[in-house]
Amino acid sequence: MLNKIKICKGAGCKAWKSEYMAKQLRQTQGSDGVCLVPCMRQCGGGASVQFEGRGEVLKLRDTNEVAYLLGSSSGALATAC
Ligand code: FES
Repeated sequence: MLNKIKICKGAGCKAWKSEYMAKQLRQTQGSDGVCLVPCMRQCGGGASVQFEGRGEVLKLRDTNEVAYLLGSSSGALATAC
């Protein structure tokens, strides 16, 4: 099953550089696999990231964590927004 990644672009997550993380992800995954979405109502503690098709919202605080996420899910991102 191929999933795309949703990254929150709400004010709280922006403060954790969510837009920068999205940019980093797009550079590796292509722009189609990454979507910036409005506030997911899970504010605080990091940037909210969600794989479509999975309920859990992950909290990322560091772009290195994004790289780790990619490493653990390579090939999982292919669908368009
Ligand atoms: S600002 Fe990202 S979950 Fe609310």
